[in-house]
Amino acid sequence: MATPTTATPTRIDALPIEDKRVFIRVDFNVPLAGAGAGLRVADDTRIREALPTIRHARGRGARVILASHLGRPKGKFKPEFSLEPVGTHLAGLLDCDVRLTDDAIGDGAIKVCRDLRAGDVALLENLRFHPGEEENDDAFARALAAHAEVYVNDAFGTAHRAHASTVGMVKHVATRGVGFLMEKEIHELGRLLGDVERPFVAIFGGVKVSDKIAALENLLPRLDAIVIGGAMANTFLLALGHNVGRSLVEDGQLATARRILDRAKGRGLPIVLPTDVVAARDLSAGAPWDDGVSVRAVPADRLIVDLGPATIEAVRARVLGAKTVFWNGPLGAFEMKPFDRGTRRVAEAVAEAARRGAVVVVGGGDSVAAVHEAGVAAELTHVSTGGGASLEFLEGHGLPGIEALK
Ligand code: 3PG
Repeated sequence: MATPTTATPTRIDALPIEDKRVFIRVDFNVPLAGAGAGLRVADDTRIREALPTIRHARGRGARVILASHLGRPKGKFKPEFSLEPVGTHLAGLLDCDVRLTDDAIGDGAIKVCRDLRAGDVALLENLRFHPGEEENDDAFARALAAHAEVYVNDAFGTAHRAHASTVGMVKHVATRGVGFLMEKEIHELGRLLGDVERPFVAIFGGVKVSDKIAALENLLPRLDAIVIGGAMANTFLLALGHNVGRSLVEDGQLATARRILDRAKGRGLPIVLPTDVVAARDLSAGAPWDDGVSVRAVPADRLIVDLGPATIEAVRARVLGAKTVFWNGPLGAFEMKPFDRGTRRVAEAVAEAARRGAVVVVGGGDSVAAVHEAGVAAELTHVSTGGGASLEFLEGHGLPGIEALK
């Protein structure tokens, strides 16, 4: 098994930042709603999670330079990916001026950064308007580094990307470390790779086996049970010889599913897969559906869209018996009611486990949305701001954005 990341880089409160220009890489890649001048932040969780670091830096008289990507503009200026709505939202949260630069580098940005006074905040325009960001181009990295005297990475959600702002520029700034959010993520996810209290149960859902497989395989020897739901369970059901009708499957992952099933069997590790499901004619409002359909009898014209009641009970029992739980990915087509039932019930179960003293860590965009929708996020031990980053962290090989700081 891969060696887990251990040592944490220096935290911002141990860095000399007074009166310094401090570049803080944040992950403000947040969902927006509306259009044109009416674009606004639809979910500010990632922005709020960065506030402790930003407030700390301002409080100590740093000149704060925030930098982030937003979306995937692919190296070109595209107004719909401007960080302007984010800057406006942040100014409201901080109750101070946030100066958005016209570009991440160049004369305008240089002047804004030079003119900052202690406690002031600037936000560089979207880093990904430059191809050099994702290419980790050294000239772009140097231009970013020239803005600052101290580098702080608080963008856990982007720590799995080896980009100019997360890796390339680090070596060009002598004083560097991590923010409070990054430190919290490393600590909370890191303990799943260390000595956990058992039973340890992992719940994997979502669509793609291929996205989760490396994390699942790395965690496997530490687990006491694995729950698999969502569309990825269909691939496992098919691998076991069940007919899954018209359900989404990844044919290319059947061999992987068989390997996991064999590995688990070899270790006596229970894998909880759906035994009954909700089977719908279509994934559209008003399409007929049946509840509690046995996985041995899914009609050929139906899609599996959620867990059935017996499966929900089986998952609940596993979760409530656990002392440590990791959950990634929804367990049904939860964006379409009433097919959110399985995901919602499991969200309630993990919250109950946390209330009983279990360590419960949730990672991944959709499962995070589910625990927020179920109103239980505050009861859990940790809800990661990273989707791909939290999974890659659990693969156990260290993330480029963290390793670059060591
Ligand atoms: C995320 O939302 O997962 C991060 O911000 C990384 O974004 P990316 O997948 O576009 O690199």
